[in-house]
Amino acid sequence: CRVQLWDSEEPVPRAELLSGVAGTRGLLCLLSDRIDREVLEAAGPGLKVISTMSVGFDHLALDEIKKRGIRVGYTPDVLTDATAELSVALLLAACRRLPEAAEQVKTGGWTTWKPLWMCGYGLSDSTVGIIGLGRIGQAVARRLKPFGVRKFLYTGSHPKPEAAAEFGAEFATLTRLAQESDFIVVTCALTPATQGMCNKDFFSKMKKTSVFINTSRGAVVNQDDLYDALAHGQIAAAGLDVTTPEPLPTDHPLLSLRNCVILPHIGSATYATRTTMAVLAANNLLAGLRGEPMPHELLL
Ligand code: NDP
Ligand code: DGY
Repeated sequence: CRVQLWDSEEPVPRAELLSGVAGTRGLLCLLSDRIDREVLEAAGPGLKVISTMSVGFDHLALDEIKKRGIRVGYTPDVLTDATAELSVALLLAACRRLPEAAEQVKTGGWTTWKPLWMCGYGLSDSTVGIIGLGRIGQAVARRLKPFGVRKFLYTGSHPKPEAAAEFGAEFATLTRLAQESDFIVVTCALTPATQGMCNKDFFSKMKKTSVFINTSRGAVVNQDDLYDALAHGQIAAAGLDVTTPEPLPTDHPLLSLRNCVILPHIGSATYATRTTMAVLAANNLLAGLRGEPMPHELLL
């Protein structure tokens, strides 16, 4: 292959992408590259395969891609463990107030041992709600179960009795999941149906002592509504690995809250996982160019 490489970890500027893609047969992209009609038109009719180094594909205009008969490769499975692990780390950081407590040590807020100081909420005997019991959702439940979770609820477009059996998880409406869960973990894909799904109405149904975690995509959450829920004590705490936009501006109101832990989209960020994702994305691209079955093709 002749390869044209954007040799930087910073996103390729849009103009550079539009000019660089012209006449190519294959495109390897990241989740920060919006591959829409404009890019596809700039590429021209020779573009046969798009390979994204991500499992999420909400940055790809699938309708337009499908219309043009372009094949798509993506990276499921290989990042499930790393992302589930990060989801659990974020949940524990939010519910046991780790960043806030660590800050107190540095700033002299730690004066003595006090009975109720820095108390949070634990997983033992809790109910955990998983929004999207897919690969990552199941891996999160598998990791949380040994913490002594009493009950798992999950929601999605349909019940998944086989996957749910491992955790004794019950399929629930979004309303029931919001009302009964002590912890809610969002691990669904971003789709038109899930966009803005966690909104004022949803947060208003949650318990005041509950903790909300999102490691899927920022746009699943209405951030203004989340801010209000956190600021007014409607819910206890939140942990977000994904936001809208990314990066979140440093003066964003959510960053002023002590009960909101925000990470810079690092769910899959282990050296081994990112290396495996990169190799898989390259192999998907090569297989697509050769007209062979891809290791992981997104069926459109
Ligand atoms: P899967 O396709 O295995 O799971 C996605 C889940 O979303 C499915 O179980 C699906 O359930 C569910 N879902 C779809 N529509 C709805 C809905 N309306 N309500 C509730 N759930 C719904 O994908 P993965 O588990 O591999 O990845 C999930 C997402 O996580 C990715 O799309 C990506 O956006 C994000 N991600 C984030 C990372 C990070 O760094 N923070 C790392 C990796 C992934 P059903 O089948 O019932 O529709
Ligand atoms: C994905 O793959 O969709 C994540 O957001 C980054 O690994």
